[in-house]
Order: sequence, then structure tokens, then C-alpha cells
Amino acid sequence: MDSILVKGNGPLKGQIPIAGAKNTCLKLMCASLLSEEPLTLTNVPRLSDVATLSTLLESLGVEIGRLNEGGTLAFSASNLTSHLAHYDMVRKLRASFNVLGPLIGRTGEAVVSLPGGCAIGARAVDFHLTGLEKLGAKVELKDGYVHASGDLKGAEIEFPFPSVGATENIMCASVLAKGTTVIKNAAREPDTKALADCLIAMGADIEGAGTETMVVRGVDRLRGTTHRVITDRIELGTYMTAPGIAGGEVECLGGRRDLLAAFCDKMEEAGLEITETDLGLKVRHPGGRLKAVDVATAPFPGFPTDLQAQFMAMMCFAEGTSVLEETIFENRFMHAPELIRMGANIEVAGGTATVHGVEKMKGAPVMATDLRASVSLILAGMAAEGETQVNRVYHLDRGYERLEEKLSNVGALIERVDGV
Ligand code: EPU
Repeated sequence: MDSILVKGNGPLKGQIPIAGAKNTCLKLMCASLLSEEPLTLTNVPRLSDVATLSTLLESLGVEIGRLNEGGTLAFSASNLTSHLAHYDMVRKLRASFNVLGPLIGRTGEAVVSLPGGCAIGARAVDFHLTGLEKLGAKVELKDGYVHASGDLKGAEIEFPFPSVGATENIMCASVLAKGTTVIKNAAREPDTKALADCLIAMGADIEGAGTETMVVRGVDRLRGTTHRVITDRIELGTYMTAPGIAGGEVECLGGRRDLLAAFCDKMEEAGLEITETDLGLKVRHPGGRLKAVDVATAPFPGFPTDLQAQFMAMMCFAEGTSVLEETIFENRFMHAPELIRMGANIEVAGGTATVHGVEKMKGAPVMATDLRASVSLILAGMAAEGETQVNRVYHLDRGYERLEEKLSNVGALIERVDGV
């Protein structure tokens, strides 16, 4: 298994291109099941998650054409041959549970493995299932699989929490249903809005995407379209913290402040300078130590849970004490013990981490059990003394394309090696 070696190497300088958004792209790929005509996606990130979901879609009968070294993918679901999403696939990638809505919406039948829990929390799917039942589906759980069937009819659905995955699954299930569906307390994430925009281009009738209430009026069929995957705001935020940790100045190409307003506000409160340029967002460390600031994660437009680990890595070096509260997932501080091994001073109690900034950290062998935790350790390693070896980097390859190349291009000392 590969590892990443990173050495503390002083200030960064240069540009980092930000790829297409992983989480948006995966849901768009699932949505291709809704039409007999091809859905072509451009700006597709080159990630192992995209490859894993492609294999699942192929097992359902979707034909995939690859152009531009995989940066453009055309999904043709004209002839679906199966409605079974096998455990072996779904367990590798939770986003594949989002074939459920499109499959039942298009064919009236879906058998999809339950994804199970994962490192960051239990991650239940009850909102997805009760939503489908409200739309008139018969839903049964058998041997670890969800069996859903029936012709769907519009309904009013109010989520107890604005779940990203459930909003997207129910939106996809309802676009071909008879009548009108109202989704209340819907997720407002840019990923969800982008999925709605693509569905609208395919002929769906959706109002209110990006707000708390969405109205979906069912149509008879969807056509094909070509859609560009939006900028990955989590990759953007990740690279914005790099100069916050290692110092210097980085311009993130394709970055937009509106994708990450709450995060940008906190970065500025900590002392970083953010400028909107013609090409994206530039982040500059003013020198000295950043100021400790408090953060609580929240659904969009709040501070993203997917940037909490990276922000914590930055706060490890700040002056003062910051309190980071994780409100979305119950177990998302796995990076804290590893950062402590590198010399950070962090106390975790339930959903709260208190970080007392230190002047110096030291490289160490570390390991993380999820994507964002892994990248936070690499970021910390860029400012720690000596060498940090981050093991189990397959997590990184799920969500960050060409990470070593992007960071070495701005001056980081980072390489991939055979690891443990
Ligand atoms: N929840 C339930 N029941 C449900 C659905 C969700 O209790 O039926 C709970 C979850 O357990 C969690 C909270 O609601 O505590 C929020 O979960 P949500 O459904 O919004 O998350 P998700 O759709 O499973 C997506 C992203 C995550 C990101 C979250 C929150 C994808 C593939 N994943 O997950 O991304 O953290 O939204 O923004 O879109 C990542 O990229 O590293 C990642 C984990």
C-alpha cells in the first residue's frame, strides 16, 4: 500500500488548479440512469471513486464512453440490464447508494445494498427510505439489501435534517413520478443545486433547488445533455489551508468565494488574506502566527464538515485556543490523535475538540481512516519539523487527484513511496 512522505519546507508559492467536484460528479453519474439518452459529463475528476461507481453503473447495463483521458465521460443507460447494486460495490463507496432513487424512478424497481456505517459515523439512510415510502414505493429490507418497488406518485416530504444524500436520492426518484413532490428542509449544498441544474437541462421540472423547499413536478421522460461538473469546493478549501499552514501565497484556479463563504470568513478571521482574482481565489499568509478561531460545522451555507480536519491542522499552529465543534457526524475527529502524535495539543470531548496552538510540531508516521483526515495530516506535515509519513493513502486517491503533483508545484516537498 502506498504512503506519502512530506517534509516541512517553508512558504508555498504558485497556482493550484481545482478539479471537478467529486461529490457532485458521483450523483450526476447516478442520475444518468434516469434517461435513455446519453448524459455526457465534462470536467470529471480522475479519482478512484469515479472508477468504482463506473463499474457499478456498468453492472446495471450503462455503457460508458471515455474521452479526453477520462475528463469527459458519456453515460448511456438506453438498455438497463439489472436493478441490483451489489454489496461489494456499495460498501466501497457510499455515494453508490444514490443509484436507488434514479433506478426506482426509471424502472419501478431497485435492489440496493445498505451501505452500513463507516469511519466517520453511523450514517443512517432512514430519510432516503421514508422519503421513497412517501412517494408510494414498497420498501423492504432483506439480507442487508433495500428492495424498493412501485410506480411513484408525488408527495410532500419533510426531512428531519437537511441530508445531502437523501435530498438528492428523493429528487432523482421524483423527477419521473406522477404529480408534484415538495421536499421540505432540503439540503442547500452547491452539489445538490448542480444536480438539479443538470436534471433541469435533461427536461426535469424542478423549482427551488438551493433553497429549503424544492418543488418537483413529474415529467414523462428525460433527455440527454452535456453538463460540466462544478469546481470541487472541498478540494478548494483544502488547498486554501495549505498556505495557512506552510505560509506563502497560493492561487486556487477556478475557486469561487460563494462556494465557501462561511469557510472564507473564518480563514480571514484567523488572519489570512483572500483575494478574488480573474482566475480564482488567492490566499496569502501575512507572516507570523495565525490567530486561533472557533468553528462549528453546519449544513450549507455553514462551515463544511468536510473542511473541519484541514482547519484543525491549521489551528494546531495558531496563537491561542480554538474550539472546533462537529455537528454533522458523530465520529469525525480521528485525525486528532494522529496530530497529537506530531506534537499538537488537542483535547477531544464528544463532538468538541479544543486545540491549544503550538509553535512547532514534529514529523511522525501517521495513519488516517478517512479522506479528509488523511489530507489534514499531509497539510500538518508541510509545516512540521522533519518528515511525516502518511500511511493508507488509498483514502486520498478517492478524493484528491494528483495531490502530490499539485502540492509540489507550489513548493511542497512531497512524494509517494511504497508504504506499510
Ligand atoms: N442522516 C440520517 N439519516 C439519513 C441520512 C442522513 O440520520 O437518512 C444523518 C447522517 O448520519 C449524518 C447527517 O444526517 O449525521 C448528514 O448526512 P448527509 O446525508 O447530509 O451526508 P451524506 O449525503 O451521507 C454527503 C457527502 C459527505 C459530506 C456530507 C455532509 C457525498 C458522497 N458525501 O454525505 O462527504 O460530509 O454530505 O456535507 O456526497 C466527503 O466527501 O469526505 C464526505 C464524507
